[in-house]
Amino acid sequence: MLIKQKPDIPSSQITPQDVYLNRRKFMKSSAALAIGGSLPWLSLGSKDALAMGTKFENLIESPYSTKDDELTSYEDVTTYNNFYEFGTDKRSPAKFAYMLTTRPWSLSVSGECEAPKDWDIEDILKQFPAEERIYRHRCVEAWSMVVPWVGFSLGDFLKVHKPTSKAKYIEMLTLVRPTEMVGQKPGLFGSVLNWPYREGLRIDEAMNPLAIFAVGLYGEHMPNQNGAPIRLIVPWKYGFKGVKSIVSVRFTEEQPLNTWQEQAPREYGFYANVNPNVDHPRWSQASERRVGTLFGRIPTLMFNGYEEQVASLYSDLDLTVNF
Ligand code: MTE
Repeated sequence: MLIKQKPDIPSSQITPQDVYLNRRKFMKSSAALAIGGSLPWLSLGSKDALAMGTKFENLIESPYSTKDDELTSYEDVTTYNNFYEFGTDKRSPAKFAYMLTTRPWSLSVSGECEAPKDWDIEDILKQFPAEERIYRHRCVEAWSMVVPWVGFSLGDFLKVHKPTSKAKYIEMLTLVRPTEMVGQKPGLFGSVLNWPYREGLRIDEAMNPLAIFAVGLYGEHMPNQNGAPIRLIVPWKYGFKGVKSIVSVRFTEEQPLNTWQEQAPREYGFYANVNPNVDHPRWSQASERRVGTLFGRIPTLMFNGYEEQVASLYSDLDLTVNF
């Protein structure tokens, strides 16, 4: 399998240091503001509050980061979430995710590979040093954010397990633990989704250097509501691909079914590439609202602005049919 080691991003897209330093100043002030917002979790007795607030040391900004967009504030990133395991309202994850215990945490890698492994999250953190990756984050609901994730290359992680030639896809699953994930308890009309939440990628998509496993944001370990302790980020796809709180990765020969495809096949496909030219059956995908900004909408970019890096993955696919 061919894996590119060098960034294929033009040097014009790499953030100059002064811009980066200004950004860090902005991040510090946003994070300070957010401390007020995070205190309720502590007072509610989160078992993992310490892991949540812990800073990563010596983070470097990745050359893959976008440099053109202003960061969304820490407060918006951590209080406006989709994480149905904690309720369907955008504000629910920030209220209820403190109940999730994220230590100890195991992640099993299995299926079509020569070196399957049951990982402890601490060993993953030791073996795969995290870096900061600033990415646009575009939700299928036509809102977007710009998030300084902390993470590492998904491809580097997968390669360690020596996928066989039969490994054409990966499937990833979220934890099922209704005692701590209130949204997983069946309500009057049954369960909101068919748990576990699951997602899949084609193996070459997963190996693309832009795809990461994120373990934090804003320089800190991942807040529970954003998918602690480990989640997927594929910045050229709609946000629903970014499966949170992952406990299983499986290499498969067949294309796995993902949660939203199973839920509403007419509305959601396997690929979920950001595409302003293909509308959702119920709304346009041509523009988006940047969360936290006051004015208007901005045009949505093909592949969320990462066209140069990923378009070649789909050169033989009709993207209007394979959405
Ligand atoms: N992962 C799980 N396990 N459960 C979910 O409900 N929602 C998805 C995705 N990952 C979801 C999930 C959707 S629809 C989006 S837009 C993103 O998470 C939101 O990530 P954020 O809350 O960090 O912005």
